[in-house]
Amino acid sequence: MTTKSKQRKLRLGAGLHGASGNFAAWRHSDAPADASIQFPYYKRQTLKAESGKFDFVFVADGLYINEKSIPHFLNRFEPITLLTALGAVTSNIGLVGTLSTSYSQPFTVARQFASLDHITGGRGGWNVVTSPLEGSALNYGKKLSEHPDHEKRYKIAAEYLQVTQGLWDSWEDDAFVRDKESGVFFDPEKLHTLNHEGEYFSVKGPLNIARSRQGQPIIFQAGSSDRGRNLAAASADGVFTDHKTLEIAQEFYRDVKRRAKEAGRDPDEVLIFPGILVIVGETEEEAVRKYEKVAELVSIDSALNYLGRFFEHHDFTQYPLDEPFPELGELGKNSFQSATDKLKREAKEQGLTLRQVALRTATPRSLFTGTAATIADTIQEWFEQEGADGFIVVGGEPNGLDDFVDKVVPILQERGLFRTEYESDTLRGNLGLPIPENRYTKRKKELVPAANPTE
Ligand SMILES: Cc1cc2nc3c(=O)[nH]c(=O)nc-3n(C[C@H](O)[C@H](O)[C@H](O)COP(=O)(O)O)c2cc1C
Repeated sequence: MTTKSKQRKLRLGAGLHGASGNFAAWRHSDAPADASIQFPYYKRQTLKAESGKFDFVFVADGLYINEKSIPHFLNRFEPITLLTALGAVTSNIGLVGTLSTSYSQPFTVARQFASLDHITGGRGGWNVVTSPLEGSALNYGKKLSEHPDHEKRYKIAAEYLQVTQGLWDSWEDDAFVRDKESGVFFDPEKLHTLNHEGEYFSVKGPLNIARSRQGQPIIFQAGSSDRGRNLAAASADGVFTDHKTLEIAQEFYRDVKRRAKEAGRDPDEVLIFPGILVIVGETEEEAVRKYEKVAELVSIDSALNYLGRFFEHHDFTQYPLDEPFPELGELGKNSFQSATDKLKREAKEQGLTLRQVALRTATPRSLFTGTAATIADTIQEWFEQEGADGFIVVGGEPNGLDDFVDKVVPILQERGLFRTEYESDTLRGNLGLPIPENRYTKRKKELVPAANPTE
């Protein structure tokens, strides 16, 4: 299916985030106020993305809220449930959902994603996260102090992925004989029990569901610290990330590809996806007006709350707004480490006040605000200059995704950067990634190469 001479192709995902990526967008005149919990709204957005030949839709998630959380987080769907429903009304687009390795069990999660993958004919994907918010512990029978620290969370995640991927190979592809005549349902030689005993998990297996058409669900990873990058390099097919400039994106891109190579993988098979907030105007001025319309909906109090969440729900109202961003020491290191490091660094380098940091974080005006042509130019530049293999497009205001599909995608298609038809009806097929061979089948072939001459 794939050859070494394959041409690099741009990939696109659509981030579904209620009324859009701006947290005050529910107040916007063009958005239903209850978009986050309205299935027809998600369905319409997903069909729109599929009409634009997007590779996948992407649903983020979290496990802890309080009264300061942004409106979208307060009332939204659990991702696998939502994606399974979306799978039933679409035919080609991939369905990627977020689930935490710190507050779940691999046997359950392996089943859930395998089921999503079967129900959708091989279009499932899992965004592996480790849960930065310590409050999550309180919803899972633990004390705050039992929330694993950053290092431990990533250790758990690495073992968790080994177990899940092991379970997904429980059945070789032709294990289910289902011979009505003889009554043989499966071939016992092709059933494998994992018997995993590790530091964090003990899982016997086998899994009670077969592999799907794409072999295993696609693995995404979101986490940009050193540890996050290593996890991505070792195990992910896609990386969800967030960069403000091409130079930063290129550094990340090169670094993750290098780590993938060092981990013995083909770096072309670890695809890097910066998330981008898109606002499209007929002119630059119109795009800026659209940005301002949504930015004005964000109050400084809600911006401070939003900022506080990244720093373990720190109360920023205690500081003067128009003085330099406060010194926070290690705060944030154990939660959103990569994001909080970046915020502190930028505030210092650029001499920003607390008000500026809060408003920029809450309503960033991204590089992808402009006319369809300038947005296409920036996408092309980032793609060709190896800052990205693709993008997760999130509307910067409620019409952002629709406008992107209607106006930016045709330009990318005309330039030969993006597909005009799906190549496949599996997510792996569209992403150009090979089907991972079942590990036991592979081992058998390696042991007795002549035994399967036709395979
Ligand atoms: C672009 C991006 C998207 C993320 N999306 C989620 C998410 O949907 N849910 C979640 O619990 N954590 C999410 N995270 C948090 C990470 O999974 C991780 O726990 C956190 O960033 C700390 O790890 P790091 O220091 O390696 O970035 C995201 C992180 C990044 C950078």
